[in-house]
Amino acid sequence: MTIAPNINYDIDDTKVWSALKHLTLVNFRNYKYLRLNFDKPFVVFTGENGCGKTNILEAISFLSQGRGLRGAKLSEIKTFDFLAQQQTSPTFINNNGWAVSALVKNGYDTYNIGTAVETQIKETNFKEYKETERRIVNINNQKITNQSELGNYLSIIWVTPQMDRLFQTSSQNRRSFLDRIVYLFDTNHSKRLAAFDNVYRQWLQIIKSGKINDNWLYSLEEQIAGIGVAIACARKEQIKKLNNFIEKNPDDIFPEAILMLDGTIEKMLDEKPAIYVEDFYKESLLSQRHLILNNITSDGINKTDLKAIYKKKNIPANLCSTGEQKSLLLSIILAQAQSLVEHNGFPPIMLLDEIAAHIDDAKKDAFLAKIKNLNTQTFLTTTNLFEFTKIKEQANFFEIKDNIVKDIFI
Ligand SMILES: Nc1ncnc2c1ncn2[C@@H]1O[C@H](COP(=O)(O)OP(=O)(O)OP(=O)(O)O)[C@@H](O)[C@H]1O
Ligand SMILES: [Mg+2]
Repeated sequence: MTIAPNINYDIDDTKVWSALKHLTLVNFRNYKYLRLNFDKPFVVFTGENGCGKTNILEAISFLSQGRGLRGAKLSEIKTFDFLAQQQTSPTFINNNGWAVSALVKNGYDTYNIGTAVETQIKETNFKEYKETERRIVNINNQKITNQSELGNYLSIIWVTPQMDRLFQTSSQNRRSFLDRIVYLFDTNHSKRLAAFDNVYRQWLQIIKSGKINDNWLYSLEEQIAGIGVAIACARKEQIKKLNNFIEKNPDDIFPEAILMLDGTIEKMLDEKPAIYVEDFYKESLLSQRHLILNNITSDGINKTDLKAIYKKKNIPANLCSTGEQKSLLLSIILAQAQSLVEHNGFPPIMLLDEIAAHIDDAKKDAFLAKIKNLNTQTFLTTTNLFEFTKIKEQANFFEIKDNIVKDIFI
């Protein structure tokens, strides 16, 4: 006699290693106050366009470092006043800043992770007042100084409908996608990126101000080149690892992608030692100063692009059909998630916004099956609940209407 496997496990089972048990939002976009409990590996949000499904995924994405899945400005997230007045919430909540918190399960342990944005009114010169925002992060009620520490407790990967056109939009979007892959594996990468932005901005400001101070500029160019080469090396190493992983783990359903970096500094690092490339970068910045004055941006790691080839057909991703591009994206996401399990020892939580768009039902089901094998929790959104009936035994379903989120059973 064969015994049917028990597929009806919940998140207290160790099979689901990474999960959120509760989630609380305060003043977060269309939610003045929202508290949700989850006990299944899949969580599906459904409702009409604009009801607030993606907003919940965005809130979860703020439990990791960075600016969330929309790359939003902190100031645009706080619930608009007119909406706040219509919703009831605990009376102690004012509308000053927003917050997200969650009880996070990682293996046998649980952690309280919270993030909040404080709005401060600061007096500037001439008695003018300016609002400034600051994001703070707490782990088990202890404030942490660096957001990258979050990576020790949970990692989060997302797929949004905007990413379906990743290979056809601006190189800036692909660069952000690439850098996020790198810093999920190497938490120092985000510090390098922030340091690079800081010195690069100073360099631009001085040149544009016309008050050229050669010594200062040389010193900034040296720093830009040093940090820039470190960024390029980290990107190269990560792309190499991901390509190796994809090659070693061929997939029957999702097409194999070959990833490539298209950037002057990254290409030069293929042939020359880092120290040589750093000198080249420095010299090149010096010779590009006059371009900045003419509002032409300089070449460097801030221009690098990520390219992908659809291996079976040997064509670049941007020439693939819409469905092929989505499948390529999903294959990169799967490889990223699977290799992250090997790297961290725990799986990433997945946020899949309108995942079914552009792929056929068989691919969608296959993708969900592969995600399930990660032993993680996955959050999904849809306007059509029936897309996910196949996983109904393993999912919490929520319907959203008029800013209210209700459990539903299907
Ligand atoms: N700061 C804010 N305060 C209040 N409401 C906001 C704020 N920012 C965005 N919204 C509202 O959130 C809604 C969009 O939510 P969201 O993108 O989550 O919808 P959705 O359910 O994912 O829709 P779709 O199915 O179209 O993707 C819009 O109606 C917008 O007005
Ligand atoms: Mg949406």
